[in-house]
Amino acid sequence: MCGIVGYTGTQKVAPILLDGLSKLEYRGYDSAGLAVFDGTKINTVKAKGRLQVLSDLTKEGSLLEGFTGIGHTRWATHGAPSETNSHPHYNEDQTIAVVHNGIIENYLYLKSKLISKGYHFQSETDTEVIAHLLDYYYKENPLEAISKVVNRLEGSFALGILFTAHPDELYAIRKDSPLIVGVSESGNFIASDVPAILKYTRDVYYIDNKEIVLLKGNNVTFYNIDCEVIQKELTTVNWDISAAEKGGYEHFMLKEIYEQPKALRDTIQPRIKDNDIVIDELSLSPEEIRNLRKIYFVACGSANHICVTGKYVMEGVARIPVEVDLASEFRYREPIFEPNTLLVVVSQSGETADTLAALREAQAHGVKVLGICNVVGSTIAREADDVMYTWAGPEIAVATTKAYSTQLAALYLLAMYFGKTRQTLADSDFNDMLKELQTLPDKVQSILEHKDNIQHFANRYIGARDIFFIGRGIDYAASLEGSLKMKEISYIHSEAYAAGELKHGTISLVEEGTLVAAILTQEHLYKKMISNIEEVVSRGAFVLAVTNEDNTAIEKSSDYVIYIPRTNRYFATCLANIPLQLFGYYVAVGRGCDVDKPRNLAKSVTVE
Ligand code: AGP
Repeated sequence: MCGIVGYTGTQKVAPILLDGLSKLEYRGYDSAGLAVFDGTKINTVKAKGRLQVLSDLTKEGSLLEGFTGIGHTRWATHGAPSETNSHPHYNEDQTIAVVHNGIIENYLYLKSKLISKGYHFQSETDTEVIAHLLDYYYKENPLEAISKVVNRLEGSFALGILFTAHPDELYAIRKDSPLIVGVSESGNFIASDVPAILKYTRDVYYIDNKEIVLLKGNNVTFYNIDCEVIQKELTTVNWDISAAEKGGYEHFMLKEIYEQPKALRDTIQPRIKDNDIVIDELSLSPEEIRNLRKIYFVACGSANHICVTGKYVMEGVARIPVEVDLASEFRYREPIFEPNTLLVVVSQSGETADTLAALREAQAHGVKVLGICNVVGSTIAREADDVMYTWAGPEIAVATTKAYSTQLAALYLLAMYFGKTRQTLADSDFNDMLKELQTLPDKVQSILEHKDNIQHFANRYIGARDIFFIGRGIDYAASLEGSLKMKEISYIHSEAYAAGELKHGTISLVEEGTLVAAILTQEHLYKKMISNIEEVVSRGAFVLAVTNEDNTAIEKSSDYVIYIPRTNRYFATCLANIPLQLFGYYVAVGRGCDVDKPRNLAKSVTVE
């Protein structure tokens, strides 16, 4: 996912752009560029590779004179990573420059039309079409040109735009890709995300779809797509800057793993009052909750593993039938929505395109949508009917950890709240679970204090070729997440399997020394799991077991055991997940991988 930063004000712009882009590196990128207006023309510098290359080329920005500019980190979608394909893109006489995050789905059609009108293209990107379209429609009014161009575009976009004919004016517009406006005494900003401007201001405006913003001097003006001035509400971001820094840890991922006790406390405690659960964000009445006949859980990646967990927890505790869907599949299977249905979307960033599309598909059919999000003011958070925030704080590492754990906590709270309202959860059980839920932060902390064992074991597997994760019931969801963590940061091939399913084919891949991580937190499934473990052991597998602290019998059939504190069976995978995060982390570090910014990945996938 690309990163955008723009600024106009009293300070030299290039160093500000470079600093802002460095705070967006976590989004993943392969090239970067700046466009700076020097008072008469737009100077552009672009480079493939890390941001440092661009910084070196411009001597930390000092070689670029000017107080208005736009910067971009590109995560390639159309056209390989290269200087030519990096942003900003511009029209042929370089009087218009544009940076873009998103995908223009009809760019080939528009490109052919422009070529037929005599336009020439330099790059393979979809974005360059926007620069030439702006040139085509620009007469003397940038707002009108932007409005006409946007009405031709299909797909998603967040744009930062400069016109040399309009000195020290910075234009921006978005549709489905994130973009915020920051305001300060020394000047005003546009950015894809808060970390880029947090150093300068906490006062931000969230731009809605197809709203145009003009930054000029000390003024910020918003327009609707008809170029009419509109008013927007200024909000204040309450992130602390340290949250967006590493705080002495080697990687953001490790810092965020260690922030989980606090993140869990911050997500759970505000929703417990007088020994009861209060979810003020939920507009469903008790009667609507009692009448619920189905819940869809829909998300991508790790967030989808929350959904898989959600099925077990919600059906077990609240006895509501649950369907789980991958967001990228959901709208294409033409789901059959019936009355008394709720759709829950889970998204850390709140900007994942496929998850947003699933939300809109449900709303288009009159289904109420609850979003479980971590980024306040994100698109999903603002478009959902209700949003239940996880209070994990900014999660910078691409591989999710603390947001994942807090999503589990939000899920537990929701299921218990529904179970109590529907009286499928006896008061005594509710009270026991509520007490146990509040012990999770300390139990996570106790696991983190034993990380040396996990680090020691991980070092033995940095050369592994295949690693399997298996589990039954809710442990299957944990195996999915453990496997994704491993492969996305260590690049080792891994598969997660429902333990009972392994023997129906994939066990053929198990050979002498293959590592199989078995998750056993569900006591009623221990025996079945041990059978499955013995099946892989008999074929030469080395078994790492993650299990409850009193399940020492497992040592007879496993080669290495990581124990987790006992807890309610529905909460157990919140604990089992912690050693699996550390396992993946230490294997990746041992392999010298870029743990916070794994190759090919982005923190939020805002393209379909
Ligand atoms: C998680 O480690 C991955 N980075 C990825 O699977 C992520 O969970 C997925 O892209 C969904 O992102 P979201 O939660 O921001 O919607």
